[in-house]
Amino acid sequence: MSERPAHEIVIASNEAEIQQCYQLRIDVFTHEQGFPIETEIDYLDPVATHFLLRLTPFLLPVGVIRGSKSRETGYYKLSRLAVLKDYRQFRFGRELVEALHKWVQADARKSGQTAGSVKVVCHSQIPVKGFYTKFGYIPEGEEFDEDGDPHQKMVLEISLE
Ligand SMILES: CC(C)(COP(=O)(O)OP(=O)(O)OC[C@H]1O[C@@H](n2cnc3c(N)ncnc32)[C@H](O)[C@@H]1OP(=O)(O)O)[C@@H](O)C(=O)NCCC(=O)NCCS
Repeated sequence: MSERPAHEIVIASNEAEIQQCYQLRIDVFTHEQGFPIETEIDYLDPVATHFLLRLTPFLLPVGVIRGSKSRETGYYKLSRLAVLKDYRQFRFGRELVEALHKWVQADARKSGQTAGSVKVVCHSQIPVKGFYTKFGYIPEGEEFDEDGDPHQKMVLEISLE
């Protein structure tokens, strides 16, 4: 493995950064994996927090993840995790998930929950279930179709103690 490139993770805070997140998702999910472009940008995008991993010093976007909280259930959702093909195996995926988990804890505390745990849900593509398992995510229920491809619901309880 070549040397791990210098990088930073930021929360996309302006339209240009959010567009970079969308473009990276389209590169990975639509062009690489063949998911329909029509459903790539969805109802969660306007309300989600978008994390962007970019190489420094030139700020080249190479990874994204999205966090949101359901008003109905109070659960958090991890979605649209993607790292550009040439930059996989640098632990960027791991760093993005960890950044999202920190945000979940901070957001829950900000909303007044200071004890117990919060639930994070993700819909994993089948080949990456093992990736989420490394963080403690546990499969829940049967596989189901999402955007024409089988997925598995995975859940994690994150302690606030
Ligand atoms: C899934 C993805 C984000 C992983 O990113 P990455 O930067 O290559 O992953 P990391 O280097 O951070 O890997 C972290 C750990 O997970 C492991 N891992 C990575 N991909 C894995 C996979 N598909 N299955 C099982 N384990 C995996 C790594 O070996 C590493 O293990 P370690 O910490 O024990 O050494 C990346 O492969 C990707 O973007 N894939 C295409 C889009 C996609 O499928 N997104 C998920 C949608 S549900």
